[in-house]
Amino acid sequence: MKALILVGGYGTRLRPLTLTKPKPLIEFCNKPMVLHQIEALAQVGVTHVILAVSYLSDMLQREMEVEAKRLNIKITLSQETEPLGTAGPLALARNLLQGDIDPFFVLNSDVICDFPFEDMIKFHKDHQCEGTICVTKVEEPSKYGVVVYEQDTGKIERFVEKPREYVSNKINAGLYIFNSTILDRIELRPTSIEKEIFPAMATDKQLYAYELKGFWMDVGQPKDYLTGMSLYLNFVRNSNPERLSRENGTVGNVLLDPTAKIGERCRIGPNVVIGPRVTIENGVCLKSCTVLADSLIKSHSWLSNCIIGWRCTIGKWVRMENTTVLGLDVSVQDELFINGGVILPHKAISESVSEPKILI
Ligand code: GDD
Ligand code: MG
Repeated sequence: MKALILVGGYGTRLRPLTLTKPKPLIEFCNKPMVLHQIEALAQVGVTHVILAVSYLSDMLQREMEVEAKRLNIKITLSQETEPLGTAGPLALARNLLQGDIDPFFVLNSDVICDFPFEDMIKFHKDHQCEGTICVTKVEEPSKYGVVVYEQDTGKIERFVEKPREYVSNKINAGLYIFNSTILDRIELRPTSIEKEIFPAMATDKQLYAYELKGFWMDVGQPKDYLTGMSLYLNFVRNSNPERLSRENGTVGNVLLDPTAKIGERCRIGPNVVIGPRVTIENGVCLKSCTVLADSLIKSHSWLSNCIIGWRCTIGKWVRMENTTVLGLDVSVQDELFINGGVILPHKAISESVSEPKILI
């Protein structure tokens, strides 16, 4: 089977992280985001993954060559000359997708869950129609694609992208399976699969909803990234608890790279992910944070709801909170207070940030 992952543009909503690394390579719970998906696809027998990108990245190309070898699959980058939306990339990759008897997967690159690919394939084969989309329930459906379907069969009656008025709380989770006949519906031009293709497929009674069990999150923005991190860690607690840290000083669900060093009298957790070669000095308190590779957090700092980029240095007695995100190689002086700061790469911060703002 094949799969196409909609990787898209520059990942502006995950800035400043995406200023120095393409979005699919940003680590989520110590693994590049797109690898969570690619590994799960390879596990169900996908042998060719097409990454639909609207910009060229040498870094992405190199990393994907390494991963293709490791997983023994083929990974192709399909590059757009102008952004083709969420359907256009399928037309661009037509030659790669067409002609297979097997259906193929299409995934949004920014969603995380316990990918139920095996079950989706079975469900898709059973209903024998053109497409299956995975749905989940959320509290705030207005920022997603909303799906109305027959409860017993899953047959979709309506698909409404980002509705202004309440339609339902079942939403498109961004994971699909299609027969190659869907390609007859898509032209090579910027097209939204959600606004143009799904409503037509629903009218033709060719689209079915597969209900996702368990956690799900679109982690394409910092706040949701941190929420998704907590959900993922809870999932690890229930499925592979041995992957979580049992070190002294950790509280609740903590994922700790084995090369990271934690000082004495720290309180790390709940909901913390610490990347490779990170150093945490004595007496540090971290909750709901991700600390990316090679960063240093000096003694007695207190961080809550932060994403610390790679190679950052946080001084002593710093207090940082409220979805603060640091890019690559940021340093923060001792004793500062950072409230909701978005700090661009290579910046040295020497004054407190008392209100949420972007620092360039
Ligand atoms: N190749 C390519 N080209 N990919 C694109 C383009 C493009 O022009 N535009 C967007 N993408 C990719 C994004 O990178 C992302 O992986 C995916 O398509 C969805 O785009 P988002 O921008 O993240 O959309 P969204 O989160 O607002 O809404 C989508 O996802 C929701 C679930 O998270 C929709 O599919 C909703 O219906 C859905 O509920
Ligand atoms: Mg998204």
